[in-house]
Amino acid sequence: MPTKKYDFDTVINCKNRASVKHDMMYRIFGRNDLLPMWVAEMDFPTPDFILQAINQRLQHPMIGYTFGDTDYFTALTTWLKKRYHITARAKELHFIPGIVAGISFFVQAFTATGDAIVIFNPVYPPFIQVPLQGKRELRCSHLEIIDGKFHINWEDFETKLQGAKLLILSNPHNPGGRVWTKEELQKIASLCQQHQVKVISDEIHADLVFNDEEQFSFSTVSEEAKNISATFFAPSKTFNVAGMSSSAVYIHNEDIREQYWNYLDGYEVANGHTLAYTTAIAAFTHGEEWLGQVKAYIQNNIDYTIGYMQKHLPKVKVMRPQASYLLWIDFSAMQLSHQEIKDRLINQALIALNDGTEFGGERYQNCFRLNVACPRTTLTDALERISSIF
Ligand SMILES: Cc1ncc(COP(=O)(O)O)c(C=O)c1O
Repeated sequence: MPTKKYDFDTVINCKNRASVKHDMMYRIFGRNDLLPMWVAEMDFPTPDFILQAINQRLQHPMIGYTFGDTDYFTALTTWLKKRYHITARAKELHFIPGIVAGISFFVQAFTATGDAIVIFNPVYPPFIQVPLQGKRELRCSHLEIIDGKFHINWEDFETKLQGAKLLILSNPHNPGGRVWTKEELQKIASLCQQHQVKVISDEIHADLVFNDEEQFSFSTVSEEAKNISATFFAPSKTFNVAGMSSSAVYIHNEDIREQYWNYLDGYEVANGHTLAYTTAIAAFTHGEEWLGQVKAYIQNNIDYTIGYMQKHLPKVKVMRPQASYLLWIDFSAMQLSHQEIKDRLINQALIALNDGTEFGGERYQNCFRLNVACPRTTLTDALERISSIF
C-alpha cells in the first residue's frame, strides 16, 4: 500500500461541540477564552480509516444491542501480539467502557472499604480519586526525580505494599511519560507477589512510546507479573478517539479473570455500544501507519518545546517524556506562589494547563502539565504565552 501523508498542521476549530477540552474551561478555570493545552486528547483529526468505518456502519438503517464479535477479538489479539508479544485468547479479554470505569470496577470487585491501595505520585488524578471515593486507604509512594526522570523509591514502595490489596500502575507513567524498564516492572511484580498485592497496569499510553524506547506490557515481564495483573488498554489516546469509551482489559490468571468477569457481567456494566467496537476494530486493524506519523510529529513538538523553554525560560524544568504528549513542567525556579503562577497562566497568558496539585497534592504546587499533541502553530502560540508571563 502506498504511504499516505497525514496532515497534523491544520488548525481545526474544535469549539462548540460539547468538547471537555475546548468548551468546559469555564467550570475549571473560571473563563472560556483560554488556549486549551490541558485535557489529554489530540487537536489532530481522528484518522480517516476510523471515521470511514463509523460512516460505513451508519449506512445500515438499524442500531441495536451489540457485542464483541470475532472481528473485534481478532483486531485486539493481533495488536497485542504484534506490539507487546502478548498471546491473548479471546476469553482472556473483556470490553471496558473506558479505563477509569474499568479501574473503578476492579477496585469494587477486589477491595472493600478501608483496604489499602498503592499508587505512585504524581499521577493521573482518577488514580487518587477512585480509591478515595470508595473510602479505600490511599497509599502514595512518591516518585523521585533523578537525571530528569521519575524513579521509584523502592524502600518506600515496599513499606506501602505491606497489607495492601492493590497497586494501580500507569505504564507508561502519566504525567512525565516515564517508560518503566523491564527490570523495574519485574521488581514491582516480585514485590507485589510477595505481599499478595494485585496489579492494575494501565497501558493507555503504551502505543505512544517513542522509537528509541522499549515498552514492556506488565504481564509479559515475568510469570509472577502475568499471574497477579489486569492490563488495561485502549485506542483512545493512540488514535484520538477518547469520547468513544472503547477500552479493553486482558487478564491471564483464571481466578482474577473469573471474579472480574463476574462483576462486569453480573452488574452489566461493561456492555459496549456499536460504534465503540467499530472504532476499536478499525484502529487496531489499520492504525500502524498513522501511528508512526503522529508519533514523529509529537516527538518533534517535544523537541521544539524543550528547545524553546531552554532558550526563553532556562530555569524552568521541563521533563522530557519517553512516551506520549504530556509534559510535566516545574516552575519552582520562578519563586512564585502556586496561586501566582496559576493566576498568571490563566489571566495573563490566557492558557489552560493542568494544575500539578491535582496529581498528588501540595508537593506538586509548582508543576503544571502541558499537552503538546497539537499543530505546531498552536504549540508556538502556547509557548509564547507561557514565556511572556515570567
Ligand atoms: C493513565 C490514564 N489512564 C486513563 C485515562 C483515561 O482513560 P478513559 O478515558 O478510557 O477512562 C487517561 C487519560 O488521560 C490516562 O492518562
